[in-house]
Amino acid sequence: MDKRVVLITGASRGIGAEAARQIAAGGSHVVLNYREKRKRAQAIADEITAAGGSADVVGADVTDTVAVEAMLDQIGKLDVLVLNASGGLELGAGPDYAMSINRDAQVRLVDLALPKLVDGGRIVFVTSHQAHFHGRKPVPADYEPIAASKRAGEDALRARLPELAERGITLVVVSGDMIEGTIIVRLLERRNPGAVDARREHGDLPTVEEFAVAIADAVNSPVESGHTVYVGGGDYLN
Ligand SMILES: NC(=O)c1ccc[n+]([C@@H]2O[C@H](COP(=O)([O-])OP(=O)(O)OC[C@H]3O[C@@H](n4cnc5c(N)ncnc54)[C@H](OP(=O)(O)O)[C@@H]3O)[C@@H](O)[C@H]2O)c1
Repeated sequence: MDKRVVLITGASRGIGAEAARQIAAGGSHVVLNYREKRKRAQAIADEITAAGGSADVVGADVTDTVAVEAMLDQIGKLDVLVLNASGGLELGAGPDYAMSINRDAQVRLVDLALPKLVDGGRIVFVTSHQAHFHGRKPVPADYEPIAASKRAGEDALRARLPELAERGITLVVVSGDMIEGTIIVRLLERRNPGAVDARREHGDLPTVEEFAVAIADAVNSPVESGHTVYVGGGDYLN
């Protein structure tokens, strides 16, 4: 495979799916990971190939080590790993699930992917301002476990920077404000009325496409390892 190979977790819908489209449009081969919605992921891959891009799909629950190993076995080399899949707001998610998916699964996936990742490769960690600025800015009540666990995941990955640097592998974090039209924002509007409107008071929320473009840029941009890209929510940066 001459093209750069980019694996995107949680790419069957939402931000991950749009990021896959944008990354493929930039000329990379994208591998769309899904948990259970194979048809949806395949439809996006088909759309990408119909538009002249290159894509395939591979299933794995990122919290399932055996499934992740099987997923990676299907991939030859890997140039970029985009850690997009996230969770914790699902109905019925246990109290430990957020930390399990947003920290433990991310670190384990990096460990398992490292043998496939080329020297000079890149890891992109997708997060939210509510998580990235956790402890410094208010968080909607229902989102608190997700914010804490995603921040813990980011910290755990940042702790690996020296080890990654030995192989020239860089980590870029892409952090976004609440993204307009996503399922998570719709859930928060229902569960924590006012929390989303409070963000809208600072201006229009970024769109899925705007956030996905930033993720696609982070796949290739020549930035220092550990760099954070911010999308929306300028008030967070003051
Ligand atoms: N939504 C926002 O407002 C917002 C704002 C800032 C940052 N972000 C970040 O952007 C990323 C994507 O968010 P989103 O709103 O697009 O999420 P989403 O709509 O909840 O999408 C979830 C995606 O992740 C997959 N997924 C869920 N659990 C998984 C697991 N255990 N293993 C593998 N895949 C799994 C789903 O696959 P299936 O469909 O197959 O289950 C689906 O493709 C997250 O990291 C989130 O923190 C979101």
